[in-house]
Amino acid sequence: MLVVDDVAKLRAILKPWKSNNVSIGFVPTMGNLHAGHLSLINRAKDEADKVVASIYVNPLQFDRPDDLSRYPRTLEDDLQSLETDGVDVVFTPSDKMIYPDGIEMSTKVDVPVISRILCGAHRPGHFVGVATVVCKLFNMVEPDVAIFGEKDFQQLMLIRRMTEDLNLPVKVLGAETLREENGLAMSSRNNYLSAEERDTAATIYRMLRSLAERLAGGDQYYPGLESDGKALLEAAGFIPDYVSVLRKIDLQQPAPEEPVKDLVIVCAAILGNARLIDNLQLSHYLAAR
Ligand code: PAF
Repeated sequence: MLVVDDVAKLRAILKPWKSNNVSIGFVPTMGNLHAGHLSLINRAKDEADKVVASIYVNPLQFDRPDDLSRYPRTLEDDLQSLETDGVDVVFTPSDKMIYPDGIEMSTKVDVPVISRILCGAHRPGHFVGVATVVCKLFNMVEPDVAIFGEKDFQQLMLIRRMTEDLNLPVKVLGAETLREENGLAMSSRNNYLSAEERDTAATIYRMLRSLAERLAGGDQYYPGLESDGKALLEAAGFIPDYVSVLRKIDLQQPAPEEPVKDLVIVCAAILGNARLIDNLQLSHYLAAR
């Protein structure tokens, strides 16, 4: 496995592959890798001949300096897992490589509408940071296909929109959320939870499934579902940011009789020191029911 922190070196490695039509699968990460990330790597291996992963904790997407400074950095362990998993190249750029003249001077990518709602409303500037860094990484790696977790559903939709709008020649794929045994979606932010909070955090998936079951049973009074979902979380000790039933295709308000399979339930809630996000696509729920 090759580890490079420089774009010129990265391009020199990738150039012969590109000219020999060797396809490249890309998995961008912020490190602190867990089984969820490794499932993205495995998906990339299925989709492409070679796999490139990146590890970069992108300051532009953090809306709070304390959140950035405490973000877990575990480079040695991450490189070990990527090597074991058969990744070909890991790109580990510095801030200077990504934002050479500093963040303020750097061109930003702003995807309208979707970046302002849900997590975008609660974390101002977050999605400009995500879109900017992913666009830059796509231009540096020039992958054929890139894999993102469906856990960050809004992020996946935003990246799809950006890729389409900017005509980037990358196929963006979503990979299903991996969960702990108790249903908690895997996330680097779970590290901020105590053992007791981890048990409590399983309430999120229970809540999502109970709302999905009501939708499947014909209850499409969305405001009622959303306030019941929030109340469940509050009763368990969370401070919910949002629980919303939305149209999966564009994360907008669904029609009163929207086909249930076209819906997604999204939520974000704070538990102790962690802000957790999760979602349930009704198409997945109905298929597994
Ligand atoms: O999902 C993440 O880990 C990050 O938002 C991403 C896509 C690597 C961009 O920094």
